[in-house]
Amino acid sequence: MKLFDVYPLFDIEIVKGKGCNVWDEKGQEYLDLYGGHAVISIGHSHPHYIDVITKQLNKLGFYSNSVQNSLQRTLAERLGKASGYEDYSLFLVNSGAEANENAMKLASFYNGRTRILSIEKAFHGRTSLAVEATNNPKIVAPINNNEHVTFLPINDLDAWKAEIEKDDVCACIIECIQGVGGIRMVDADFLQGLRKLCDEHNTVLICDEIQCGYGRSGKFFAHQHLGVRPDLITVAKGIGNGFPMSGLIISPKFEAVYSQLGTTFGGNHLACSAALAVLDVIEQENLIQNAAEVGEYLINRLKEEKLPHVVDVRGRGLMIGIELDVPYKEIRTKLVKEQHCFTGCSGTNVIRLLPPLCITKENADDFIERFKRVL
Ligand SMILES: Cc1ncc(COP(=O)(O)O)c(C=O)c1O
Repeated sequence: MKLFDVYPLFDIEIVKGKGCNVWDEKGQEYLDLYGGHAVISIGHSHPHYIDVITKQLNKLGFYSNSVQNSLQRTLAERLGKASGYEDYSLFLVNSGAEANENAMKLASFYNGRTRILSIEKAFHGRTSLAVEATNNPKIVAPINNNEHVTFLPINDLDAWKAEIEKDDVCACIIECIQGVGGIRMVDADFLQGLRKLCDEHNTVLICDEIQCGYGRSGKFFAHQHLGVRPDLITVAKGIGNGFPMSGLIISPKFEAVYSQLGTTFGGNHLACSAALAVLDVIEQENLIQNAAEVGEYLINRLKEEKLPHVVDVRGRGLMIGIELDVPYKEIRTKLVKEQHCFTGCSGTNVIRLLPPLCITKENADDFIERFKRVL
């Protein structure tokens, strides 16, 4: 059997990681400004993370959600405290798309409606409703195209108001910093206006914090820069530092109903141990403050350098977009092949930086030197 060929791959195999660096099978070291697609929060192969997961694996890897799992309760308590949502509840699943799928499902159970509003250029995952709420017709199969979703311009409150006032909108789903969409940012006036409209019309406000959350923006959640509390928050990527895991954080206004939501693997013992180790390290090493400080430093330096081909630098914390006046492809490839540095990308001309939250100012300076050499 061969692999189903859906990924355009770099011809590189990464076999080892440490902090903000990874190594290929030939021993070549790379600077990781991509974080394995925003997944690596506390850094590669953190010793505490390895220790906690190893100890758990030696006791029990998995048992089903039909019995008590105190690791899930501990995680809910710790996450509530760390994020400022102690009065909310947690439902654990396995991937970002699955978290969004459950968010929209819960919203629909709540108000009985079927319409979703989503932002132009949004990405919410590849399962049925998550992909329908993703603004990329190329990845929406005919079977997923069920006319539940209307895409509206970012920050255009009047356009959203006109739809919400029809009183048939189930939920608005928002990435406060769009990832795949090119690091486009929601502004405070828009989100606060949307919160008010959702309250007035019994519409559920969902923040997809799968990429911009878990400390990456310099606060626990990106929406916390904008002064709003959503009804539902989805998290994935950084929650497990690479262990596949995601969660739905649920406001007290939703009532839990037995068997309405469920999963086989979600919240298993290993996943919870990974997530608890991640929270330990985020707290012990002040990684959210580090994301704010190093992120600001990197954004300012990228702006001050007035680099050729760079027309805009935007973002918050360690979620940074560098817009170029040329396609990113050649520059990104040279960064990997010649400068041994991984970055992400968006659209056709945005380099996306999503480093581990433990990146240092020296790593940031190092990146800028490597970047200059390929421009
Ligand atoms: C904002 C956002 N939502 C949802 C997803 C989907 O997550 P997953 O690939 O874990 O299903 C992603 C993945 O990149 C994302 O960036």
